[in-house]
Amino acid sequence: MSHQLLIVLDFGGQYNQLIARRVRECGVYCEVKPYTTPLEELQKMQPIGLIFTGGPNSVYLEDAPHVDPAIFQMGVPVLGICYGCQLMAQALGGRVTAAQDDTAREYGKTETFFDTSCKLFKNLPERGVSWMSHGDYMEKVPDGFALMAHSKACPNVAIADETRGFYGVQYHPEVNHTENGVAMIRNFLYEVCGAAGDWTMGDYKRTAIAAIREKVGGGRVLLALSGGVDSSVCAALLAEAVGEQLTCVFVDHGLMRKDEGDEVEAAFQPWAMNFVRVDAEARFLQKLSGVTEPERKRKIIGEEFIRVFEEEAKKIGAVDFLAQGTIYPDVIESGAGDAAVIKSHHNVGGLPEYVDFKEIIEPLRLLFKDEVRQLGRELGLPEYLVSRQPFPGPGLAIRVIGDLTKEKLDTLRDADAIYRQEIVDAGLGQEIGQYFAVLTNSRSVGVMGDGRSYDYTLALRAVTTTDFMTADWARLPYEVLDRISTRVVNEVPGINRIVYDVTSKPPATIEWE
Ligand code: XMP
Repeated sequence: MSHQLLIVLDFGGQYNQLIARRVRECGVYCEVKPYTTPLEELQKMQPIGLIFTGGPNSVYLEDAPHVDPAIFQMGVPVLGICYGCQLMAQALGGRVTAAQDDTAREYGKTETFFDTSCKLFKNLPERGVSWMSHGDYMEKVPDGFALMAHSKACPNVAIADETRGFYGVQYHPEVNHTENGVAMIRNFLYEVCGAAGDWTMGDYKRTAIAAIREKVGGGRVLLALSGGVDSSVCAALLAEAVGEQLTCVFVDHGLMRKDEGDEVEAAFQPWAMNFVRVDAEARFLQKLSGVTEPERKRKIIGEEFIRVFEEEAKKIGAVDFLAQGTIYPDVIESGAGDAAVIKSHHNVGGLPEYVDFKEIIEPLRLLFKDEVRQLGRELGLPEYLVSRQPFPGPGLAIRVIGDLTKEKLDTLRDADAIYRQEIVDAGLGQEIGQYFAVLTNSRSVGVMGDGRSYDYTLALRAVTTTDFMTADWARLPYEVLDRISTRVVNEVPGINRIVYDVTSKPPATIEWE
């Protein structure tokens, strides 16, 4: 696949993937590389530009991440963001120190004044809000650099050496809080790096299909289809490329949301391929019977899934390729260390040892989630599948708190369907990152008609988030909550009380188990 490439050099900041997504949204393909990547490797990739990300360190500390200074001789434009800006300033002869007083240390939304003769700010307003998060200060900017933006507290919010194509901003253009931030990134790409804008999902689809055909030849491909966005788009892409050489095994574990299994099956009707739906509800429920501990549930479901898939794969016989819906965020090697594991997220993956195949293919390896969705649309998958919010591999098993029964699962399915429908009808579906109902194992007394009830409490969860690593509880309008509450207690037997979860992550997690 030939398209221009920009490299995002990762210094461990929290918005690094967001920067990469922004670049791609602007029609330029980019990859995230750790700052430790050898210079020769970067050179070989022939990028049209580099973006240095933010990071949690201070450049003047001895063990702070650095780059080979020869990177500035590559003849490639550089945009340094926050830490990246300070790193570039220091490497090119400037001086960065800890801000001495609060005036030079800036956090949050800051009014900023831009020099619009600078290519980075071309055709943009002279003032705007930018999102700052830095405790260090560029005491001296390097020779050859001019000051291109300032705030009340800071004379050098943006610096540039336009002859060499080096730009640095102390704020974060990639976050939504920065007004026109994406336009600034776009200016860097198109005005400074000379981008052609050759990264579109239509092109990607065509080249990916051709590449799959070439690789697979007359071979047979097997895919475990979970019904999630990634495996579904992977299935559609493969079906488009190799048709009946593809077999998709869809293990219906009975832990999906209302009607979801049928929806998945219906979505793949248009393609001539082998679609195998395995009804495994009974065996999953049997294995899970009496289990209350969340990590045990995850483990049992993960193992059972592999077992079912393995049995089906045996029936199919040897295949040449095992396909997986791995996406780019799964393969990015971060510039910083790994975070602690809070939950053992079970994904449909990790299957290879159990199945007879020659090679793995991962046709979505280069794509971010939003690009996977776009590709799904290009392929003609229905919107309900493509815009589906994240759904955990263990499904409703971790949304029914405590022990599981089919009855409880059905109750939750009905309540959850009402909740989701009301959110969509209220026009809130797009702005909330994830929303779902949880059947708690807490029962309480209620009064229904003339009688006493002693039924379950349903918890509603809705969060806004960009990366699911942190999240805030969504401020749902009271009228919407009221409608959901009224409908659920009236329409779903077994539930007589509704509560709304108002905790953010951290300290809570998004799911309850
Ligand atoms: P938490 O609950 O850890 O969830 O804040 C973060 C995101 O991950 C999803 N999640 C899972 N996904 N298997 C998955 O494939 C799991 O076991 C699992 N647990 C949580 C969760 O829905 C949210 O989007």
